[in-house]
Parts: sequence; structure tokens; C-alpha cells
Amino acid sequence: MRARVTPGGSVRGVVRVPGDKSIAHRWLIFSATAEGTSRLVGLPPSLDVRSTASCLAQVSTAARPALEAWSRNAPRDEEGHRSTWNDEGSGPVETPLEVEGEGRAGLLEPRRALDCGNSGTSMRLLAGTLAAAPLRSELVGDESLSRRPMERVAAPLRAMGAIVRTTDGHAPIEIHGRELQGVDHWLAVPTAQVKGALLLAGVAARGTTTVREPAPTRDHTERALGSLGATIRTVDGAVSVEGGFQHGGFEGRVPGDVSSAAFLVAAAALTGSDLTVIGVGLNPTRLHFLEVLQRMGVRTETRVQRDELGEPVGDLRVAASSELRGTEVTAAELPLVIDEVPVLALLATHATGETWFVDAAELRVKESDRLAGIADGILGLGGHAGIEGSDLVVAGSGLAGGRADARGDHRMAMAFAVASLAAEAPCDVAGIETVDVSFPGFVPLLRSLGADVEVVQ
Ligand code: S3P
Repeated sequence: MRARVTPGGSVRGVVRVPGDKSIAHRWLIFSATAEGTSRLVGLPPSLDVRSTASCLAQVSTAARPALEAWSRNAPRDEEGHRSTWNDEGSGPVETPLEVEGEGRAGLLEPRRALDCGNSGTSMRLLAGTLAAAPLRSELVGDESLSRRPMERVAAPLRAMGAIVRTTDGHAPIEIHGRELQGVDHWLAVPTAQVKGALLLAGVAARGTTTVREPAPTRDHTERALGSLGATIRTVDGAVSVEGGFQHGGFEGRVPGDVSSAAFLVAAAALTGSDLTVIGVGLNPTRLHFLEVLQRMGVRTETRVQRDELGEPVGDLRVAASSELRGTEVTAAELPLVIDEVPVLALLATHATGETWFVDAAELRVKESDRLAGIADGILGLGGHAGIEGSDLVVAGSGLAGGRADARGDHRMAMAFAVASLAAEAPCDVAGIETVDVSFPGFVPLLRSLGADVEVVQ
């Protein structure tokens, strides 16, 4: 399917976005490994989160009925995504989930391979969880996920005592879980997925597990563990968790996904619209893109209103946009805007001057090779971009109009669609259906806010 975007229109109003994918994966894992009942509201019905839910359903008899019912009843999206939106059209439909857990010790050996689909977060976080459970499991993924590096999580889990076999460094991954021993691990690449996996393994291990990050990454695992009562502390980029911890269940409403909101914020900036996203996650480790936007001439305001399992939640408003300016996103900033690079790069096509993303090689091992995909997509839409070594350079020369291919990558599809709103001529985005991976309802939501986007078979 492709999206045909006609430039102009608005992206105006007060909206909610589907629940945060990163948080949802973690809370699902915590619910299935609790000794007791957990109640979750606001889980996004996105494909990635369904992957984690269905893998957990296979290893927990107690949690299975609820997880399977949620997967069945969470709104599906065949007909132009409408079913995922509530009757007022103002936000995602929410199907509550009540999960019974029997603790990590209650996890059972799965009868078949656990399919993580397109989701790297599912695979890496589940690897950490299953390495600490006394069972054998195999994690598999789709073609894109099977190309992504897995030794970065397998090696430290081996050092903790689990048997972990990758396939030439990739999925399928075979795991024989056992009682683990805490480790002190230096992450060569700053990655929240691996940090999260090691903390999930560490909280079940003997002794202390410490993960040292070369640069800060999102801290959802740490926040949830702290709120659940685990002993966890962060000092100078080193996160330590004490093992042997078990919790008894929790309640929480998953905050809206601020990385999804980023596409709407960019769309509002490009169309000069007033937009407020309510009930969105405002965790500081996810908001660095707002600083980059500020440098580019887009001012936003945030207001924290409540806390959900250690996560600040509130409103995000596009306060003002002036003429967009190019900027430099440094290597040190990159881990904190890793998911927003596609949208920032596409926004940069409409800025004056060049925008540089320095040392962006990690983008090559995301859901697609985003470095190549962004550069090619911008060229296809009639703009200018290039790759110099591992830097991405975007020229602020505008988009003349044309066609870009999402290459099966949800964030690329949304970034292309949003930037097309300010192109000089209509644009086509091939592979728009992939937005369901993180943002089901993206196209009808854009339309309801005043944009002219049509899905064509
Ligand atoms: C995620 C971490 C990031 C991010 C991904 C979600 C997480 O990946 O790109 O979309 O939930 O931990 P890395 O930590 O591998 O960079």
C-alpha cells in the first residue's frame, strides 16, 4: 500500500497517541513475571507489542488467557486503521489487560520457537528474561530482525552463566536459562535494549549486576524496577541492580508514545499548526529531540501532570515555529534521538542550510538500514542528502515532490509522509502499512487533524 500526500493542510488539534512501545514491552514482561496480578491500561495494539505479548503467552500458563484475549480483542486495523481509534476520533481505543503471573519460577518451556516478528526490543528483552528462567527457548524474527546484531546481548548473558547460541551473531537465538551470576558489563554501543535485557537478567541473578553506558539511553527498565521496589541506582553512567528480587504485580496506564508524537509535532511545525498531544510520556531520556527541534526553530512546551510506575506523563504542545534552520546532531546526542533521526532528517530538508547527523552508523542496524533509506528517500522525494563516512548530511533545499519507499520500516514511512506535507508537489510513500508496527491509526489521525493523506492499494 502507498500513501498519497498532497502538500498543505494542517495538523491541528488536541490528540492522544497510542501507548509507548518501549514501556509496553517492559511492563508486559514485568506483568508475566510477577507473583500476582497486574492491571495494564493503554497498551498499544501495535505489531511489536503484540509480538512480546504472544511470546509471553507461550511461556506462562497463568498469563496466557489474558494475553491471548488482549491480542485477540485489541483493535485490528485492516480497514484504513479506523478500528483502532475511539468513537470521537480523539485517541486510540484502549483494551485493558489483567495478567496473572506466577513469578519467573512459574515460566514454562515453550513448545515452539518464540516469534518476535519485526521487534528488536522483544527479542533482546526476552533474551534477558529467559536467560534467568530454568527452561530452553528459541527466539526467531522476521527477515529484517534476523539481520540485526544479537551478540551484543548474547555475550554478556553468557558471562552471567546462561547458554546462549546465536546464528552467526543473529537470530535464531537458542537460550538455556539457569541461575545467573551478576556481572559488571561495559556496553560497547549505547543501547537501551541490551541494558534492559541485562537488568532483567540481573534482577533475577545472584549478586549485583552493573551495566556501564558510554552515553545515556532511555531508562524505562530502571524506572519500572525502582517503582516495583527493586534496589537499583545509577551513578556516573553505571546502572546497578541487586539480584534475587521478585515483585507481586502492579497497576499502570502506559503513557502515549512520545516517539510517535514526534511525527505529529514535525507535521504541525511544517504546516504552521497549533497542536497539543495529551497523556504522552515525558521521560527526559526520550525528549532530547525537542532540544534539536528548538535549535532548528521549533519551540515546544511540556507539562508533566502525573507519574505512572516512575514515568512522567503530561502534555506536549508545539508552541511556535519560525523559519527552520539546519543543525548538527552530535555523536553524543545520537543515542537519545535514535528513533527520531528519520523525522528530524526529513524535517531538515525544509530548513535553511545543512543538517549533520554525526557518527550515525548505528542507524544501519535498525528495522532497516536507515542511513541509506533516509538518503535514498529524500532523493526520491526531490530533495538532497548524502552519506559521508558514517555521517548523514541533509541539504535544506526543500522537496520537489516524488516517491519514497519505506522499505518495511515504520518510522521511515511516517517521516516521509510528514515531510511530504511541505513538498512542492504531491508525494507517494510506498509501504505505508508498516506504520502498524508502532503507530496504528497514523494515517486517519493525520487526516482528522486536517492533512490530505490518502491510502491507495
Ligand atoms: C528501544 C531502544 C532503542 C530504540 C528502539 C527501542 C528500547 O534501540 O531504537 O526503538 O525500547 O529499549 P537501541 O537501544 O538498540 O538503540
